Amino acid sequence: MGDRPGAGFSARLILQLAKRQGFEGVVAAVSSQAKAEFLRGLGVDEIVTYDSEDWGEPVDVVLDGVGGELLPRALSALAPGGRLVFFNSGGGTVPAFDLPAGSKTITGLTMARFANTHRELYDQHGEELWKLTLSGRRR
Ligand SMILES: NC(=O)c1ccc[n+]([C@@H]2O[C@H](COP(=O)([O-])OP(=O)(O)OC[C@H]3O[C@@H](n4cnc5c(N)ncnc54)[C@H](OP(=O)(O)O)[C@@H]3O)[C@@H](O)[C@H]2O)c1
Repeated sequence: MGDRPGAGFSARLILQLAKRQGFEGVVAAVSSQAKAEFLRGLGVDEIVTYDSEDWGEPVDVVLDGVGGELLPRALSALAPGGRLVFFNSGGGTVPAFDLPAGSKTITGLTMARFANTHRELYDQHGEELWKLTLSGRRR
């Protein structure tokens, strides 16, 4: 998705929130290194491109906003016991045996359903995001 400077909307938000929460070892996977500078400015620890051979050390959690052909690769980036959160509309297929083999979990969510089932939490997070945005602390 070549020309946009800094990855998708969800990815930019997630990466900033992860760093604000104090997570270390936050890795972003993007289509091209052209997006790397912007993402480094958000505090991302490591940036890999989809086609790079090495995605670095396995991670505990993958937030997959792309899916499709990238889903198996995203799953393979998980450390044993790790969890992949699938929220994209790209679909994808993974070999089911990869899950027990690595004690991995795939879960997913939609914001619409989350808003219905966890309204209070949804509103609270929304309010926090607005505060961050209005104070200029979120890019
Ligand atoms: N579950 C929910 O409730 C919910 C809510 C909102 C959005 N979504 C879904 O979450 C995903 C991300 O949303 P977003 O708002 O961050 O979207 P976005 O701003 O369009 O970003 C999507 C990113 O995915 C990457 N990508 C790789 N292959 C792609 C392809 N074939 N087509 C489009 N993008 C591709 C692109 O980054 P690179 O150029 O670096 O590859 C792009 O910047 C979408 O699938 C959207 O439908 C789900």
